[in-house]
Amino acid sequence: MNGIKIRGTGRCVPEHIVTNDDMAKIVETNDEWITTRTGIQHRHHCTTESHTFLCVNAAKSALEKAGVTPDEIGACIVATVTGDNIVPSAACMLQKELGLPEDIPCFDLNAACTGFLFALHTMECLLNASPRKFGLVVGAEVLSRTINWADRGTCILFGDGAGAAVVECREGWPSISAVMGSRGDDELLRLPGIETGERGFISMEGTKVFKFAVEAVPACMDAVLKKTGKTVEDVDFFVFHQANARIIDLAVRKYHIPPEKYYKNISEYGNTAAASIPLVLSELQDQGRIGPGSRMLVVGFGGGLTWGSALIEFA
Ligand code: UT7
Repeated sequence: MNGIKIRGTGRCVPEHIVTNDDMAKIVETNDEWITTRTGIQHRHHCTTESHTFLCVNAAKSALEKAGVTPDEIGACIVATVTGDNIVPSAACMLQKELGLPEDIPCFDLNAACTGFLFALHTMECLLNASPRKFGLVVGAEVLSRTINWADRGTCILFGDGAGAAVVECREGWPSISAVMGSRGDDELLRLPGIETGERGFISMEGTKVFKFAVEAVPACMDAVLKKTGKTVEDVDFFVFHQANARIIDLAVRKYHIPPEKYYKNISEYGNTAAASIPLVLSELQDQGRIGPGSRMLVVGFGGGLTWGSALIEFA
């Protein structure tokens, strides 16, 4: 299979910032607890912005940076669990707004916080079967719609945002070698659907999910390094899903990753689920810390349960 590489990234976050002190006005919590237990200081919540608005702006920016026009796109995937509608999908709304071609698949993918990673792998498969060689992969969430404001264990965690990547597939490029896993579980982490008649609040057994995450992250990383025959030293940048700064710190310590090779933006955005990895990629590109030739090891984990990792290069 021919591999994909990233051509350009973009992002969009809503304007309204909710601080930890704002949270303390709603539930019994405080800045010190949230900062030390999670690393989160702010999160952005939509007020007037829609999910589609976030996707469109992130995607436009990624297309511009990639120097790719909408008519060159061969598939569009939006990883999300919080689209404006179930039908039409967020990806079809994006197609409409951007004027993407009609003879391509546009669809949403639900793998919760691992969604962007699953979408990258899916895109690699799709582009191998497409006459067009560019794909649009977006991770976007408006998790503020799903917050249970009476649950201090979860309401302080989540933020809204979108990140996008335009990828290219070329003959001879190495596959991103994605390693992915799933374990059906509706007890540890759940966001009810419409059939249940329940209001769609996220619920989570935080400590159990934390334990799952700290086991899944190194297992994924080891599997990708083994699959690609690379070592930690061969990786230019480690991009972790931003669920809790402590989960990232544990991985960083285990693999002796130096500070210049990983990044945390959870203090600014909180946990944005499928958007978190592309938000990191986009900030890193804008800061000039990743660019042409960079090799990134990307790691995701979350609801489903789902987990995964891949080694992706910048074109
Ligand atoms: O993105 C998808 C994957 N998600 C994750 O990976 C999230 C993984 N889990 C976590 O990040 C952490 O488990 C949390 C940040 C959600 C919670 O941290 P924790 O260290 O596991 O705390 P805990 O739930 O065990 O709660 C410890 C204490 C409890 O009080 P008692 O029973 O010890 O008296 C909680 O009631 O902290 C209390 N607590 C709070 N206190 C102040 C829980 N939430 C809060 C809060 N403010 N917001």
